[in-house]
Amino acid sequence: MCGIVGYTGKKNVTDILTGGLSSLEYRGYDSSGVAVIADGKTKVYKAEGKLQNLKDLLATKQEELKSANVGIGHIRWATHGIPNEINAHPHTSTCGKLAVVHNGIIENFKELREKLEAKGCVFKSETDTETVAHLVNLKYEETKDLKEAVRLASKELDGAYALCIIHEDVPNTIIATRRNAPLLIGVGEDENFAASDVPAIIEHTKKAIYLDDNQIAVLKPNSIELFDSNNNKISPKVELLPWEPIALSKMGYKHFMIKEIHEQPDVIRNFLSGKLHSANEPVKLDEVKLDKEKLKNLNRIQVVACGTSLHAAMVGKYVIEELCKIPVDVEASSEYIYRTTVTDEHTLVIGVSQSGETADTLTAVKQSKARGSHILIITNRPDSAMAREADSLIPVNAGIEVSVAATKSYVAQLMAFYALALHLAEIKDSADKDYIKTLKNELLLLPQKIELLLTKKEKIQKCARMYSSSKNFIFIARGMNYATALEGALKLKEISYINATGYPAGELKHGPIAMLDETLPVLSIMMNGKVYEKILSNAQEAKARNARMIALTDSLDEKLEDLFDYVLNVPHVNEIISPIMAIIPLQLLAYYIAEFLGKDVDQPRNLAKSVTVE
Ligand code: G6P
Repeated sequence: MCGIVGYTGKKNVTDILTGGLSSLEYRGYDSSGVAVIADGKTKVYKAEGKLQNLKDLLATKQEELKSANVGIGHIRWATHGIPNEINAHPHTSTCGKLAVVHNGIIENFKELREKLEAKGCVFKSETDTETVAHLVNLKYEETKDLKEAVRLASKELDGAYALCIIHEDVPNTIIATRRNAPLLIGVGEDENFAASDVPAIIEHTKKAIYLDDNQIAVLKPNSIELFDSNNNKISPKVELLPWEPIALSKMGYKHFMIKEIHEQPDVIRNFLSGKLHSANEPVKLDEVKLDKEKLKNLNRIQVVACGTSLHAAMVGKYVIEELCKIPVDVEASSEYIYRTTVTDEHTLVIGVSQSGETADTLTAVKQSKARGSHILIITNRPDSAMAREADSLIPVNAGIEVSVAATKSYVAQLMAFYALALHLAEIKDSADKDYIKTLKNELLLLPQKIELLLTKKEKIQKCARMYSSSKNFIFIARGMNYATALEGALKLKEISYINATGYPAGELKHGPIAMLDETLPVLSIMMNGKVYEKILSNAQEAKARNARMIALTDSLDEKLEDLFDYVLNVPHVNEIISPIMAIIPLQLLAYYIAEFLGKDVDQPRNLAKSVTVE
């Protein structure tokens, strides 16, 4: 969702800006633009749709862009105003000398706009961002100091923002600031960068400064100065970025999604390293900072998350309740934050988020923190805003996930829940020791079993082709794989735009059964364990209504071939671990259907990788 890049230095500015924006494309966007200062003038170029449209436009302007040595770029995911060229960033002041790019939402933009129009500012777009351009420029006209203008203007802004601003009267300079939206500064040699996320700059530098809320950075090619909101100078803390540019390459795969699906065995190995070496040793989870007594006496856990992370949390609930006997509530963050909740200092609150930036989850976490709960964050981005709220932080270390549809980060989040549940169970002595040992063994063997499954993906590919013309899908499951059914259906919806529903199998007869006929595929997730026979009989109910039957199972029962039109087999795992095994074929099924239908797999329409608005 929206991305920012800024550059000041001697290299080709538009190449660096568009290159940076390309690496943020995966976040989801609908228009793009850059502003540069060339021949002493601020020049703005924007395009609707794919970034390629902007690149094509810039290719025709190389002559007039030759002298550019500072610039800002943006990809926009529309919030205020439709996705078109006018609403695309950068936005400019009435005089056209100042340009701004913005991530976030200026909540008081209506009042500001009225005030600014009354002062003679002429608005061109419907965006909240344009108010920033006019406001900062008015302050600049008063103070003749761009940094001071940004500082004064930001005091009048409500909401969330990451901003980069240039002005043609202030050559070679970018002013960058943020509040509740990510922004980092890339430190180079005779050049400096600003970006909303690491991939935009990692090709150029591994040194970065993370801005804190309300800090203002003044970037010139040979200097970076940092100030707090009271204008005190701060010494910047330069950190080394843990990313490798290679992480952003498809490595020969057609899409990032299929590459990331194949990375899952290594993601599991990576997660386990340092935490679990053998089934005879306790799980080592030093990341959990609650002391043993507090952990033993924990009587409630609340998990907040969105999208795929919410499904990981739902599996987590089953696992923790089964192994630790602690009640776990799971709620969509967007619901949790607008009702009276009763979490307090006796509740452990877990926020789960791939990006660590999702606005709803961030708000939920902040609310719980204010009520005194211990905050445990499970995220793929230990450098994120959510991670900074954490009392305990479990980084899932899945590596950068480029495809909008989450796959490897989901599996990594599940691993975090297994590790947490086992850790708690060992401290509380709440589960049978042999059972715990079996589960640890199974976790250690899991990567190989998934690798085996991935070698047999042709059968899933064939299934995808057979069912790709279906307009609807139902995924049914029970127990901890109910979340797998939801996640499998979500993957299919996200990337193929096929209407897919995940349903608890036992609920089929209470409504959805009315929809069943010979056109509707019903995919039953039937992993061996407590509820296997139950789902089998629910599947029979569907078969009796002529539905097209698909089974996903680790059972070798040959009779399944009579009931189901198509059987997708996976290696056997203990039921409690089965959500990890069962999701892999569903990720592949969604992928192959979308690929077969020619959809934009890695960047599905209307979706964003990291949703930083509520
Ligand atoms: C977006 C993404 C989903 C993701 C959800 C939650 O909707 O498209 O893939 O699951 O946000 O994101 P988070 O980063 O908090 O896990």
